[in-house]
Amino acid sequence: MSPLREIMRHVPSSVAVVTALHDQGPVGMTVGSFTSASLDPPLVSFFAGRHSTTWPLIREAGRFCVNVLSAPQHQVAAAFATRDADRFNGRSWTLSSLGSPLLDGVLAWLDCELDAVYEAGDHVAVTGLVHGGHAAVDAHPLVFFRGELVAPGWPGPS
Ligand SMILES: Cc1cc2nc3c(=O)[nH]c(=O)nc-3n(C[C@H](O)[C@H](O)[C@H](O)COP(=O)(O)O)c2cc1C
Repeated sequence: MSPLREIMRHVPSSVAVVTALHDQGPVGMTVGSFTSASLDPPLVSFFAGRHSTTWPLIREAGRFCVNVLSAPQHQVAAAFATRDADRFNGRSWTLSSLGSPLLDGVLAWLDCELDAVYEAGDHVAVTGLVHGGHAAVDAHPLVFFRGELVAPGWPGPS
């Protein structure tokens, strides 16, 4: 494991699914790199790997929804990180105001217009202009920590 990857395993991250409605249908990918970038204008960001097959479709759509996952959604995180999985199969979702898939049961969501794409080594940094969003104040987060999806402070199913 690279030194950077070994260190970053110990740094907790949120887990989000970035979704878009492409001509081919709904698309989405799990990211642990979501963060806010600017308050004025309101920008959020995430990093997409150069070999991602989903990112080019999100880019073509020109808009995306960031679905920040809640404690019970570890299966959602896994499905949207698996190639060849039918990622939307059996999931409930609606369309956001901008027309991107909004997954049920998330901790928070942000409805974004694609703002800019920056080169960043083997990833690209993506910023989105936030047009709307919502947070569920009584929900617990899903967190990626030391290679595992965990839900601190949430009892979950036994
Ligand atoms: C917890 C977690 C965090 C991830 N974070 C990112 C990320 O920030 N950027 C990224 O490009 N891929 C990330 N991935 C991997 C993608 O989800 C995965 O490679 C991708 O969805 C699968 O292929 P596709 O992009 O071709 O659809 C992450 C996966 C997991 C499980």
